[in-house]
Amino acid sequence: MAFELPDLPYAYDALEPYMSAETLEFHHDKHHNAYVTKGNELLQGSGLEGKSLEEIVKGSYGSNQGLFNNAGQHFNHLHFWNWMKPNGGGKKLPERLQKAVDSDLGGYDKFREDFVNAGVGQFGSGWAWVAVKNGKLEIMKTPNGENPLVHGATPILGCDVWEHSYYIDYRNRRPDYLNAWVDHLINWEYVEELYSKAV
Ligand SMILES: [Fe+2]
Repeated sequence: MAFELPDLPYAYDALEPYMSAETLEFHHDKHHNAYVTKGNELLQGSGLEGKSLEEIVKGSYGSNQGLFNNAGQHFNHLHFWNWMKPNGGGKKLPERLQKAVDSDLGGYDKFREDFVNAGVGQFGSGWAWVAVKNGKLEIMKTPNGENPLVHGATPILGCDVWEHSYYIDYRNRRPDYLNAWVDHLINWEYVEELYSKAV
C-alpha cells in the first residue's frame, strides 16, 4: 500500500497565532510530502510492500534505516495534523482521559510539566509523546523519526520538536512552542479516541 499525503484537516491559517500558515505550508506540503515520496521509493523492493503502515514502521526498525526514517515520519505526521485543532489545548480533557492522566501521570499539571520537559530535553530533532504501554500512560521522547511503536507502546499524543515545526514562528525558542502547543492546540478528542482504541 503506497503512502499518501493527506490534506490537512483544517485551513492553513486555522492554528494562528500559535502555528502560522507559513509553517503549515512548509511542514505539510514540503516536509511531510518528502517523507511520503521518499518512503514510497524505499518501500519498493523492501519486502514490506503490502503491509500496513504500522507493520512497515516496526518491520523496518533496526534493519532498513532509510525506509524506517520516512515511514516513521509519515506515521508521526499523519497523527500530528490530527493532534492539533483551533481552540484546542489546556485542561479540557474528556473525562475518561482525564482519569487516566490523574492515575498514571500524576494529574494534568504534572503531565503538562513532564511533557514539555520531554520535548525541551530531546537533544536535536525528535518527538515528545504520551503513549500507552501495558495499559498505562507514559511520557516518552524519541529522536528523529522514531516513535513509541518500536518500544512496545502505542502513541496517543505526540509533539514534533524538529525545528521545521517551530523555527518560522518561534525561532530557537522551543519551550515557547511547546507551551503554546499544549495550552492552545492539542485536539484532546483525537487523543481520547486513540486512547480508547489502545486500552
Ligand atoms: Fe515534522
